[in-house]
Amino acid sequence: MFVRYGDHFIVPMFGQAMVTRSAESARAILSTEMKVYDKTEFVRLFDELLGQGLVTSDGESWRRHRKAIGQTFKSGAIRQMVRSMEPRLNHWVDTLLDGGTRLNGYAVTREVTLQLVGDALIGVQEAEQVLLLNTTELFLQRLSKTVGPLSIRWLNPLAEMRLKRMITKTDEMLYALIEARRSTAETGEDLISLLLRTREDDGTPAFSKREIRDETMTFVSAGYETTASALTWALILLAQHQEIQDAFAAQVADLGATPSLDTIDQIPLAEQVFKEALRLYPPTWALVRRANEQTELEGVAVPVGRLVAVALYDLHRSGVHWPEPDVFRPSRFTQKPERFTYLPFSTGGRGCIGQQLALSQGALTLACLMGRYRFTLVPGQTLEPRAEILIRPPKRVLFDVTPR
Ligand code: HEM
Repeated sequence: MFVRYGDHFIVPMFGQAMVTRSAESARAILSTEMKVYDKTEFVRLFDELLGQGLVTSDGESWRRHRKAIGQTFKSGAIRQMVRSMEPRLNHWVDTLLDGGTRLNGYAVTREVTLQLVGDALIGVQEAEQVLLLNTTELFLQRLSKTVGPLSIRWLNPLAEMRLKRMITKTDEMLYALIEARRSTAETGEDLISLLLRTREDDGTPAFSKREIRDETMTFVSAGYETTASALTWALILLAQHQEIQDAFAAQVADLGATPSLDTIDQIPLAEQVFKEALRLYPPTWALVRRANEQTELEGVAVPVGRLVAVALYDLHRSGVHWPEPDVFRPSRFTQKPERFTYLPFSTGGRGCIGQQLALSQGALTLACLMGRYRFTLVPGQTLEPRAEILIRPPKRVLFDVTPR
């Protein structure tokens, strides 16, 4: 569509929607004029699972949560969370081939990402992680069925009942975790402890139990599927470019030790590969907003109520900003990209609060894998992205993995 119509076009969807892949419009919508654009009613589709957490709230409630969480979710706390992931990550890498050398890359990266994020953020154990994984997956599947481009499709009543039961069980589990955390809240480094000990200016607790439940669920679900998807694409791209995989492994070998948060900067390809995978396959492939007043974007009138969508996938593949945009070339990230041309985490006030955590965790996971194994793709697979609520890899991505 962009090739045919240029950087913006209007589609007859939900009334009319303007779709843009222009860096200039992305700047206005997400950053400098963000007050003119609200999140849309589509986020209400997530309420049943996420409640009123950061992703789904707007206005005063969002501002209060973002400010309070922003104060606690700072780089010191994030570094501590990533450090706490290291033993579990190393164990996972050590035992990766215990079940055989042919792996479904998407399944294993989802599993490890949920383990790492679940443990670092809320300290959940295996059975609780399985419940979170299954509930989120069922919910995402239901969303991709219900939100077709033009219509709300029919829902299967049995699947609906199952989802409701799972959400109830997940709620019970989260409320039990919150209660258990009260005794260690003053010192704990996990998200629940941070939220429990956050106070308003007058000293009263900043978050109710329900709000802590909503933020916990929001952070886990916003945090793991996105990172797992980016990691899977990174492994696919590395397997398709063995020369880059060898250069990456050589950087890890030069380090002479197991990569850690403290040494990851000595392996530049770790972050570069992860960022390049996020450029080519940004899990959140479009950001949708609704204009709350009459405005304009690069000379195009935007009436009140008009939907606007920033197509991140297409912005990242625009030849104007990225030479040979479809080519996997991690060395692009030896330099900072031009502003507003690279937005996998969005930008501005509603940009991703977990960006630093995701980048560190993604780079570290890749470095630990590349130091130990070579990944090759089993021939004959079609590796097309699934553009649903998120861009996800195919359900099965088979790799043959051999020790180095
Ligand atoms: C590669 C991994 C990730 C990607 C690509 C990603 C991407 C994004 C994007 C594009 C947004 C903006 C959504 C919108 O405006 O509609 C966002 C928001 C958010 N992300 Fe992430 N994210 C990632 C990892 C994480 C992690 C690890 C966490 C939590 C630990 C997290 C928590 C959040 C939250 C809470 C928001 C809502 C922020 C707000 O509206 O104030 N994300 N993310």
